[in-house]
Amino acid sequence: MSLPDFQQSLSELTEQAQSAFASASDTAELDEARVEFLGAKNGRLKSVQKMLGKIDKADKPAAGKSLNETKQAIQSAFDEAKKRLVGDGDAVVRDSKFDATLPGTPYRMGKLHPITQTINELKDIMGRLGFTPAEGPEVEDDFHNFQALNIPTSHPARDPLDNFYLAVAGNQAAAFAGEEDNPILLRSQTSTVQIREMEDKQPPIRMVSLGRVYRPDTADWSHYPMFHQIEGLMIDKNVTLADLKTVLKLFASNYLGDEVRIRIRPSFFPFTEPSVEADYYWDGKWVEFGGAGIVDPNVLKSVGYDPDEVTGFAFGLGIERLCMIRHQITDIRYLFTNDVRFLRQF
Ligand code: DAH
Repeated sequence: MSLPDFQQSLSELTEQAQSAFASASDTAELDEARVEFLGAKNGRLKSVQKMLGKIDKADKPAAGKSLNETKQAIQSAFDEAKKRLVGDGDAVVRDSKFDATLPGTPYRMGKLHPITQTINELKDIMGRLGFTPAEGPEVEDDFHNFQALNIPTSHPARDPLDNFYLAVAGNQAAAFAGEEDNPILLRSQTSTVQIREMEDKQPPIRMVSLGRVYRPDTADWSHYPMFHQIEGLMIDKNVTLADLKTVLKLFASNYLGDEVRIRIRPSFFPFTEPSVEADYYWDGKWVEFGGAGIVDPNVLKSVGYDPDEVTGFAFGLGIERLCMIRHQITDIRYLFTNDVRFLRQF
């Protein structure tokens, strides 16, 4: 028998075995096919193997190699068909390294910080009311933090004990004494972003800004030297206190629930006239949320707007307080000590 003929029979056999194994629809059929092709006594592979004796001596090594390859191909076609019909579950259970009774390894899912979650939610609520997010720098200058907001040089809000002045070009005392033109500081309020937005754009404006502010307060359950504020600003023709109250009410009921009530009380801020303090009725008591008012004409003038043409309202609320009320958090310090036992609850 010639080598090519031998190899031809091998490849025919492989093809037939492969298709027989692949088309077996249950283990009984598969076993029948196994006996037919791989049977130790009368299997067809065995018969082909017998023809090896009739091959020329010179061609024997090549023939033997082809025969081995054929055996492997047929065996692996069988293994695959078996896997298809019975699965390899047995193999897994038999594998001594695998103990199916051990508890699994739980995956710890990362989460956004509760303040970040609150910021995202508040931004969404204000977005639905038509307010576009804006941002400003945390290192601010005197002009945006005080001057343009109608806070005069002598105002106690500028006290170095109440602000984090950054002594870059001079010292803090010089900054407070007004000896420095425009000292820089960590912003003490997000009202700075009102000024930056109005410098940048022409009315109408509806912006909301959420971010960090800094004040050298001693930490206690309700104070922390860094916290977050949400600032809203709306400038247009004929904006009134009624618009402000409507927006505050919608804001509150979206965040805390429909049943929440709000009230405003007269107050004073240099950058608003009239100024109000906003309270929300929550859990049986009135809680102060922050300041608001009609933008003072001096502020409009400081950014080059005409107070006879446009008016507006502004508000500034503490984000921690909102988050704490909603989640019944009793101490602001929990929010910043990064204890996973606390953070995991949100
Ligand atoms: N900036 C004030 C503060 O930090 C809060 C505030 C009051 C913001 C009145 C305003 C406003 O926009 O109109 O205490």
